Amino acid sequence: MEQSLKSNVEMWKILQERDYFATHPCYRQEDGSLLTKASDDQIIERFMDLAAKKRVAVIGCGYGRDVAVIAPKVGHVWGIDVSELILGKAVAYLRERGCDNFTPVLAERWKEDLPGGLDLVYSCIVFQHLTRELVRDYILNIPGKLAPHGEVLCQFADMEYGTRDAGLEHPHEPSVRWNRQDIEALVAESGLNLYALERQPIEGHGDWWWAHFGPAAR
Ligand SMILES: C[S@@+](CC[C@H](N)C(=O)[O-])C[C@H]1O[C@@H](n2cnc3c(N)ncnc32)[C@H](O)[C@@H]1O
Repeated sequence: MEQSLKSNVEMWKILQERDYFATHPCYRQEDGSLLTKASDDQIIERFMDLAAKKRVAVIGCGYGRDVAVIAPKVGHVWGIDVSELILGKAVAYLRERGCDNFTPVLAERWKEDLPGGLDLVYSCIVFQHLTRELVRDYILNIPGKLAPHGEVLCQFADMEYGTRDAGLEHPHEPSVRWNRQDIEALVAESGLNLYALERQPIEGHGDWWWAHFGPAAR
């Protein structure tokens, strides 16, 4: 990773050392176990035929919750996250569920270690937690990893309580705002074509944005 990039990866490593998911109200269930419910496969299927995808990358895979519903439907999944600690948890979680088609990738090495020829790059509930520069770095370098008809489906957030960028003062879970214009400009800068940009209002909070894009003309 370039030295000059403003990055909060170190903050996220600390959050994972503090057992981020097991202490987070969205992921910790009443009985203390981690949330297993995920509908990412259905979300993706609203935009494309997931079963046709052989090579898939998931940015910010966490402990494997979203990969667990994607991996059984595709050829192979590479999951990117910040540390060996959380990636090890993902490998274990996925093995328990019979998914042996998963390869973990460290965020700081994704450009070197993530293979090319990808049919799909997917990310959900991640980009609002990264510095703007890290998100830009992903989007601008993804084109080099895609197959000619590869596709990208990424979720952004524009929450009312969000901020323009992530601070680096202390480990925390930021909510970085991306609006329609920001997302359109970023995809245009990547040279990819925006196929769809869907707004999903979350009452009392703001908007989720689903950006679907890729190299092929449509
Ligand atoms: C809110 S969790 C979502 C996890 C998963 N997508 C899910 O929905 O269960 C955000 C994840 O992004 C990871 N993350 C933070 N910075 C990252 C980066 N630069 N690259 C990849 N993942 C990152 C965090 O460690 C965390 O596992």
